[in-house]
Amino acid sequence: MKKKPQKPWSGRFEQRIDPEVERFTASLHFDKRLYLFDIQGSMAHAKMLGSVGLISEEESAKLIRGLDEIRAELEEGKFPFDESLEDIHMNIEARLIEKLGSVGGKLHTARSRNDQVALDTRLYLRHEIKGILSQLHSLQESFLAKAREHIRSIMPGYTHLQRAQPVLFAHHLMAYFEMLKRDRERFRECLNRVAVMPLGSGALSGTTLPIDRGLVARDLGFDKVSENSLDAVSDRDYVLEFLSAASILMMHLSRFAEEVILWTSAEFGFIELPDSFCTGSSLMPQKKNPDPMELLRGKTGRVYGHLIGLLVTMKALPLSYNRDLQEDKEPLFDTADTLKGALTMTSLCVAHMKVIEEKMQGSIESGFLEATDLAEYLVKKGVPFRDAHHIVGRIVLEAVKRGWSTLSPYTLDELRGFSPYFDPDVDSCLRPAEAVDRKDVPGGTSSMRVKEAIKKAEAYLKET
Ligand code: ARG
Repeated sequence: MKKKPQKPWSGRFEQRIDPEVERFTASLHFDKRLYLFDIQGSMAHAKMLGSVGLISEEESAKLIRGLDEIRAELEEGKFPFDESLEDIHMNIEARLIEKLGSVGGKLHTARSRNDQVALDTRLYLRHEIKGILSQLHSLQESFLAKAREHIRSIMPGYTHLQRAQPVLFAHHLMAYFEMLKRDRERFRECLNRVAVMPLGSGALSGTTLPIDRGLVARDLGFDKVSENSLDAVSDRDYVLEFLSAASILMMHLSRFAEEVILWTSAEFGFIELPDSFCTGSSLMPQKKNPDPMELLRGKTGRVYGHLIGLLVTMKALPLSYNRDLQEDKEPLFDTADTLKGALTMTSLCVAHMKVIEEKMQGSIESGFLEATDLAEYLVKKGVPFRDAHHIVGRIVLEAVKRGWSTLSPYTLDELRGFSPYFDPDVDSCLRPAEAVDRKDVPGGTSSMRVKEAIKKAEAYLKET
């Protein structure tokens, strides 16, 4: 039987670890997915150790070759994981020693797992953020393409989920484009603070050995090295920033998900989703449910939970490294995975949704969506806005009493009974569809402005 490998700290210990303690403290089952980044960091470190002469160039080359073989073993599923070796960092190092003998023991020169795990997490996060940024770019493209396709479709815009004023469906879609623009900014900002190289901080105070931190940073494509060793091994604010950017993004996506869920209901009937995007009921034969969007809405809560969870984990932790920090990884990994799935589902949904024009446009015909424009008509005739608001309120109230759901049946004479300022040109204000093009302010819903917004968005996507 193969004998259990010794813990790297066995020199100081007289007793074996209690198996329960070993199980409780282990992180291998979740941090093994950091293996590529761990190897990447170790290779850069080994290269630097050779360059500065802390080990010979030959030893450095051996370490790098050994690490590369281990990478292959991991990729091919042939790596002999050892649960008793706590985490992925110790597993890889022990395997290197097993393969290379005493040279393998030189890799951890001038390094601690504390700065090593900080580096691995930063490398992992940099990789994930880049992927998320590119998914955000494609999602913006999907929204833009849909908006272009629907530059003429009109829908009721809502406040309080009550019909408010007509808007272009394209304008509504472009609202999400704007949100995603800010989401991308947040992730880019976060990336700047993630891309800082912590190695060389040692366990907490640095090292007595003459290392070259800049060399490692350049090798790994980081343009900064951390400025304080205590800070570098003990903070996880970059993870928290990622979790908060992720939470805000999920909040945006969940609002879209909710709208899709509403719009596909018979009550709205504005859009249809293909069968391939929906699931059925095991009991009710007629059901076709937008489950991916419901799940996305549900998973938003779980991402918020991860943010709050890690904030609580970190609250009042004394400097510097504490084992509590190992609890950063599961929420981080789960958030990145959840986000990637949510972005894919949203892109699919946007691309596949089919607008039911008659239903959408039909909905603007009732609900007095023309009322605000009527008040603004009076303002243009010199009536103070407050008075105009009151007059139109009376006009709506009377219509409600007559059982109408629109103002269009009013004759000019009847309107004049409410205010002498009504003239024949009031006619166009009674047609809700025409209200859209009157919203001709920057950021408004007129066709011209929305077309402009789409042009601007196209240029932005090319640049970014
Ligand atoms: N698995 C640990 C973590 O994720 C690595 C660092 C352990 N450091 C230590 N001093 N025990 O945080």
